[in-house]
Amino acid sequence: MSDKEISGEVYYPSKDVIKNAHIKDWDKLNEKVSEDYLGFWAERAKELHWFKKHSKVLDDSNKPFFKWFVDGKTNISYNCLDRHVNTPRKNKIALIWEGEDGEHTTMSYFRLHKETCKFASILKSLGVKKGDRVTIYMGRTPEIVIAMLACARIGAIHSVVYGGFSVEALHERIEDSQSRVLIVSDGAYQKGKIIPLKDIADEALQRAGTVEHVLVIKRTGQAVNMEQGRDMWYHELMNLPIVTNNCPVVEMDSEDPLFILYTSGTTGKSKAILHTHGGYMVGTYTTMKYVFDINDEDRFWCTADPGWITGHSYIVYGPLLNGATVFLYEGSPTFPYPNRWWQLIEKYGITIFYTAPTAIRGLMRFGESWANRHDLSSLRLLGSVGEPINPEAWKWFYKVIGKEKCPIMDTWWQTETGMFMIAPMPCVPLKPGSGTRPFPGIIMDIFDEAGKPVGNNQEGFLVIKTPWPAMVREIYNDKDKYIEQYWSKFPGFYLTGDSAKRDEDGYIWVIGRVDDVIKVSGNRLGTAEIESALVSHHSVAEAAAIGVPHEIKGNAIYCFVILKQGIERTEGLIEELRNYVSHEVGPIAKPESVEFVDSLPKTRSGKIMRRVLKAKVMGVDPGNLSTLEE
Ligand code: PRX
Repeated sequence: MSDKEISGEVYYPSKDVIKNAHIKDWDKLNEKVSEDYLGFWAERAKELHWFKKHSKVLDDSNKPFFKWFVDGKTNISYNCLDRHVNTPRKNKIALIWEGEDGEHTTMSYFRLHKETCKFASILKSLGVKKGDRVTIYMGRTPEIVIAMLACARIGAIHSVVYGGFSVEALHERIEDSQSRVLIVSDGAYQKGKIIPLKDIADEALQRAGTVEHVLVIKRTGQAVNMEQGRDMWYHELMNLPIVTNNCPVVEMDSEDPLFILYTSGTTGKSKAILHTHGGYMVGTYTTMKYVFDINDEDRFWCTADPGWITGHSYIVYGPLLNGATVFLYEGSPTFPYPNRWWQLIEKYGITIFYTAPTAIRGLMRFGESWANRHDLSSLRLLGSVGEPINPEAWKWFYKVIGKEKCPIMDTWWQTETGMFMIAPMPCVPLKPGSGTRPFPGIIMDIFDEAGKPVGNNQEGFLVIKTPWPAMVREIYNDKDKYIEQYWSKFPGFYLTGDSAKRDEDGYIWVIGRVDDVIKVSGNRLGTAEIESALVSHHSVAEAAAIGVPHEIKGNAIYCFVILKQGIERTEGLIEELRNYVSHEVGPIAKPESVEFVDSLPKTRSGKIMRRVLKAKVMGVDPGNLSTLEE
């Protein structure tokens, strides 16, 4: 695409950026991949280690249950660690960590490999086998990375639950996954306080009966309850003779599960998205290399939590598969002052910095002087993920943090996609607010209600037309739901749940969710989870949750509540309900506002009409009300 052809406000990469990038010409690459996209993925797979090569790249004989790298045998943890340990990368720093309290550590690939083997041998001694589920509920410390890699090494399926979730959310996820082992830290530092993760886990375990062993990692050192026969300190086990550095890797079939990760969908409880060793590995490895252009000299920082897909794919697996140096920070960007992130970039010489629009907006508020007091010249690339980035935040990020020399990789993807789907590369001209075009080999479209492609600049349902290696394989143990949720609205096409437009240059502009998912500060929450927490409170008869625009968070949660008969509407009860949701689901789900009402707008079939509620809050016309019951 020549410069002249692109319309709108465009930011072109400098010659230097292009000269040093892995991919210098996006169009050329795209053309080549489009001719033979399976050949492209097969080539990428060759760059990784396989105990046995695949017999076929893609098996699409049982759509939508696609299989990638059929009959291939590999292990993603082996590819993240052992593969490098057998090269001079052995002594390279794999992980740099800083706690919110200033504690810090670094680990070479050699050490990360050893620690992973030790962790894996402890899991084995607890009877964890291939296919068993292990729930991990921790703050951002090196052990969360090690625990994930250890599970993968022995073929156990990890299920990481974000530390910002709370009692009921954790309980539900443990129960659904039938985990026998829980790995938890005593606590985590956040904004100068301790989040009592072990206490929350104890309460969740009172509600769930599957967990036999709890491995407790010491981080904050506060007193915690240790239940005899169930709870064990990790550091004590580490000193036992059963713990060995030498824990053989389990050879996994390409399609063997690697992890499940719960995410909110359109209805009901959160769903366990299943990813596999082979395809997920090739997808995250390749997108990390091409989009973030990772090199041996880089120090990569993704500010997400390992408990979300962004952390799985681009803190742990993608970077380590590429032999990169990863930086992990435990705490809040504003602790003790709003310059903490900028200070860390300077201190550790971060070269690629990947964060979320909500964080940028939050830090913008404090003014640019906090960033300006730091030397940010090590940066060469920036990234954004989680929600559409508003042009104002994009420009601030570009100018104040990137000093107008760092292209911003706005990456659109989902828990289900496992890897970047719409994203630029450093050589691609950028337009603030658009993730540019789909990754080469991926065909996407925008449909109207009837499944017909819409014209340029018209809004519609964003769909994916081709399979990709890191795609979700199923909702764990619920194949029907997988079909219903993703493949039934437009049979044969993957429904993303987002609405979008495409401009005359083929650039895609994602607008937001069109289902019952609310993105709060980039965190994905389902209205159903918040509503079911509210109705589990003894005062509440019925509840409806909606997202309303919020300057910093993108969306804030607004709840309508019908109280049980005889319960008085008080300010105190509003506070109680907000705190109750926070306790049950997590602080990330705490409603911004709760409003008491006498009734809720519903369709004749009893479905809450959230768009009517949203129109009410925003003071706009609710539109067509013909399906409204009352
Ligand atoms: O609505 C889109 C939004 O985040 C959703 C996926 O959320 P989750 O599964 O939690 O994964 C988030 C991180 C990959 C999408 O359906 N989203 C994600 N990235 C972007 C985005 N919206 C606009 N632009 C993005 N870059």
